[in-house]
Amino acid sequence: MNVIDVQELTKIYNTGMRKGGVVALDSVSLSVEQGEIFGLLGPNGAGKTTLFKVLLNIVRANSGSCMVSGLPPSDPLSRQKVGYLPENHRFPDYVTGLGLLDLTGRLCGLSSSAIDERASHLLDLMDMQKWSGVKIRKYSKGMLQRIGMAQALISDPEILLLDEPTDGVDPVGKIEIKNVLKKIRDEGKSIVINSHLLSEVEAVADRVAILQKGKVARIGTVEELTSRKSHYEIEADIGHNLVDIPEHIGKRISISTKSMIVELADPEKVNDVIDLLRIKKVSIRAVKPMKISLEQSFFETITAKEESK
Ligand SMILES: Nc1ncnc2c1ncn2[C@@H]1O[C@H](COP(=O)(O)OP(=O)(O)OP(=O)(O)O)[C@@H](O)[C@H]1O
Ligand SMILES: [Mg+2]
Repeated sequence: MNVIDVQELTKIYNTGMRKGGVVALDSVSLSVEQGEIFGLLGPNGAGKTTLFKVLLNIVRANSGSCMVSGLPPSDPLSRQKVGYLPENHRFPDYVTGLGLLDLTGRLCGLSSSAIDERASHLLDLMDMQKWSGVKIRKYSKGMLQRIGMAQALISDPEILLLDEPTDGVDPVGKIEIKNVLKKIRDEGKSIVINSHLLSEVEAVADRVAILQKGKVARIGTVEELTSRKSHYEIEADIGHNLVDIPEHIGKRISISTKSMIVELADPEKVNDVIDLLRIKKVSIRAVKPMKISLEQSFFETITAKEESK
């Protein structure tokens, strides 16, 4: 089931500065399934925050449609099931962490007993119990993001929209947030994360979309985006055999006595390489498509689109 469904969504900001306005979203279509962590990636200004704002009815799209838990953003009930951590948030810093959860809980219409129960669970989950009585102005960035995630979760929403949740957080804090996200997903929630931090998204997200200048440049599972289908590593007892690859099949990138990396003219040609090895009676142990990092995949997607213009 899709908890978020976006179809051909376009948002143009009319600034009066630029003729025709700023196209922040340009025919964006994507969906988020229940129980998945979905990473929304893209350079500065790609439209990530704008998409959240449209989903939350903070700004209205010019055309296209979207559904949040089966309801359009214009229906206030669609927001009952959503928790939101805004980018660059400024919570009132004169309240304590617990005070913020109480305030947000009341804004969500929860009873005092429900707030107490949820706040206690979330402070534990975010490892913020011992800071709950301290005023927010004394919090570090990591603590601010953790209490921010707790306030987003106060009403036990089905969907969590997190805009740059690890922004400004140190490496230890980032690992903690990553672990918390996995725990939240294991509770059955769907999470959308806007981020620049690709290695983190790679470690937690099930699927990602790369936005560029308001368009979806790529979308798929992390596995799909990080497999390089034309490059294979073949583990085999090559020994001192010289395995020459004819040009129409591809080329050999590297070779050792135990393995070989090849770049193929097309992925199907991996069978031809296996045939070549078998003719030489080389015993094959594994044939694996090569992996690249999400960061590399992102960079290649963005530069390929720039160059094709
Ligand atoms: N209120 C606004 N009025 C005019 N233009 C805007 C407004 N908000 C955003 N924009 C423009 O829309 C485009 C998309 O902005 P958005 O904030 O959605 O990008 P983003 O992907 O979240 O970027 P970042 O990674 O920097 O947070 C940018 O060109 C931005 O300047
Ligand atoms: Mg943003």
